[in-house]
Amino acid sequence: MILVTGATGNVGGEVVQALVRAGEPVRALVRAPADLPVEQAVGDLDRPGSLAAALDGVRGVFLLPGYRDMPGLLARLRQAGAERVVLLSSPAAVSADTRNAVSQYMIRSETAVRESGLAWTLLRPNAFMSNALRWLPQLRAGDVVADAFGDVPIASTDPYDIAAVAVRALLDPGHDGRVHPLSGPERLLPAQRLAVLADVLGRDLRFRALSDEEARADMAGRVPEEYIRAFFSFYSDGTLDESRIHPTVEEVTGTPPRTFRQWALAHREAFAGDADAG
Ligand SMILES: NC(=O)c1ccc[n+]([C@@H]2O[C@H](COP(=O)([O-])OP(=O)(O)OC[C@H]3O[C@@H](n4cnc5c(N)ncnc54)[C@H](OP(=O)(O)O)[C@@H]3O)[C@@H](O)[C@H]2O)c1
Repeated sequence: MILVTGATGNVGGEVVQALVRAGEPVRALVRAPADLPVEQAVGDLDRPGSLAAALDGVRGVFLLPGYRDMPGLLARLRQAGAERVVLLSSPAAVSADTRNAVSQYMIRSETAVRESGLAWTLLRPNAFMSNALRWLPQLRAGDVVADAFGDVPIASTDPYDIAAVAVRALLDPGHDGRVHPLSGPERLLPAQRLAVLADVLGRDLRFRALSDEEARADMAGRVPEEYIRAFFSFYSDGTLDESRIHPTVEEVTGTPPRTFRQWALAHREAFAGDADAG
């Protein structure tokens, strides 16, 4: 049995589907019952004691980072008999700025996994293509998307490919103790991603780059202050380079990573209803 955390989210949801396609027994960890095609167990990663039922008979775990007590969580996995964990981390774990709040929670999570005594694999994908879903409110309101860091190219990763690699690391030998940097096949600016989305949706969309001041104001209130500082350190000071294209997805899965166009085509339904908006 494989336990998938974050199963209602972008990446965990893809991991569930990929394991189902592989014919593997899979259980989804949820905080509240959800509409999922697999067995579910209710539990909270911030409360390792709540995971007993979820961990019953589990051999491998797909784990998200950043919960309150990562060493305690990993100890609970091991006590319950799990053998292997695949952690979703980020290149932020190797950022030049180790005081960065995002880097710190990734480093804390990776360290807990490395020291857990379980067999482990770390995945470090560049920013997700699914982050474009954050544009949905603006796309409902009109045809202009304003966003921060408009001059930062990213070779973003499709959660589908993160899941494909995670499943191989969970099921195949040869991934123990390995760190997989992941990316898509192309580096794009936000305006270029929006242009692809416009083409797929048949809409005339325009990108407006927020100034640093506007970006700070936009994030204030909805993003904790230490994370705003972290994002400015990454993308304004350039302490994180997510423009690198890695060969890993194809090396591990035998299939090239998906383009942003493929992501947009697969998720066009999520944007449905927006075409006549604004
Ligand atoms: N976005 C990026 O570009 C990026 C890049 C690298 C790494 N990451 C990391 O990847 C993670 C997953 O990204 P995503 O886009 O798949 O996230 P997402 O779609 O926001 O989903 C988050 C998932 O985590 C679950 N969750 C949250 N708190 C939990 C808790 N205390 N106990 C159990 N489950 C909990 C949520 O479940 P509910 O349904 O209960 O809310 C949901 O299934 C991020 O949180 C981040 O740490 C992100």
